[in-house]
Amino acid sequence: MLIKKASGIKSSEITPESVYRQRRLFMQGAALGVGAALLPSMAAAVGEVPAQGIARYNGDLAYKTRAPAWLQGKVAAARQSKYATTEPLAPWDVVTTYNNFYEFGTDKGDPAENARNFRVDPWQVEIAGEAEITGKFSLEDMLKPHDIEERIYRMRCVEAWSMVVPWNGFPLADLIKRFKPTSKARFVRFETLVDAEQMPGQRSRFTAIDYPYVEGLRMDEALNELAFVGVGLYGQAMPPQNGAPLRLVIPWKYGFKSIKSIVKIEFLEKRPVTTWERSNSREYGFYANVNPQVSHPRWSQASERRLPTSLFSSNRRPTQLFNGYAEQVAYLYAGMNLARDF
Ligand code: MTE
Repeated sequence: MLIKKASGIKSSEITPESVYRQRRLFMQGAALGVGAALLPSMAAAVGEVPAQGIARYNGDLAYKTRAPAWLQGKVAAARQSKYATTEPLAPWDVVTTYNNFYEFGTDKGDPAENARNFRVDPWQVEIAGEAEITGKFSLEDMLKPHDIEERIYRMRCVEAWSMVVPWNGFPLADLIKRFKPTSKARFVRFETLVDAEQMPGQRSRFTAIDYPYVEGLRMDEALNELAFVGVGLYGQAMPPQNGAPLRLVIPWKYGFKSIKSIVKIEFLEKRPVTTWERSNSREYGFYANVNPQVSHPRWSQASERRLPTSLFSSNRRPTQLFNGYAEQVAYLYAGMNLARDF
């Protein structure tokens, strides 16, 4: 990733005072062991937590992108899951204005600004490669069979910031199994939309990466219980800047593995080359597992800034191996040298 100014605080990193105060309240609640569901007064800052329990944002949307009604309905009906945390959620405004989505620009505020009118209906996803069922599928064909659940995951960016996000979606394994990958399928490759007309970052001559944005997982990683297809957050269909209409959420890996606005899924025998690996393989690996002991060549990964930060606190905390999900994923890497296969 391009790390720009080392000093100076960007306005997008500063928490508005109201949010900061609400968050303090929320943290006090959390410290007392009181769950979000019992603290409705913090709704404005952390999203409303209604009776059925999922975190919900019901305010105005700053973008025009609208998911089809059937999808919005599915997301709104998301049920709670066991994948949650009592750590404070990043408020809606932070999750939707502090983004990495280079197709829409490299500054954190660019995606929210430039993806406002992103068209996601109609949307097609191509399934290709080593699978019994391949072809082009409408968004409805892709998503309709899946019940939507909420998963509150930590997300740790390779740039050493993190946030806690209430995603809505379903297990990636459930999607993959529908297409019956063959025994040759050892990897899954994902591709983001290319549409220079809608995505100014793809028109820029100074682009840091090649498009389409490509990511990949080993098949056993893709089938792990935590690997998730995100189609919404806070009970709203996925905002454009967060990767509408569907993206990956891979919580034990650096955020760049969580590819947005997917249009192609391919089952492969050989490991695909991914976007950041292609751009700089010394700095970004295929695995990209969160690991406090393996520094990025230009900065330490030992700690992270948990967003939102404030003028008074960078909210720094130690980074955890596999982003705190070792219990669910460590078996995938048994016997591997994590410093070499970073
Ligand atoms: N997917 C695409 N297509 N393009 C991108 O630039 N950025 C990645 C990832 N997925 C990116 C992407 C990075 S670096 C991060 S940290 C996460 O998206 C950020 O997700 P968020 O903006 O929803 O927080």
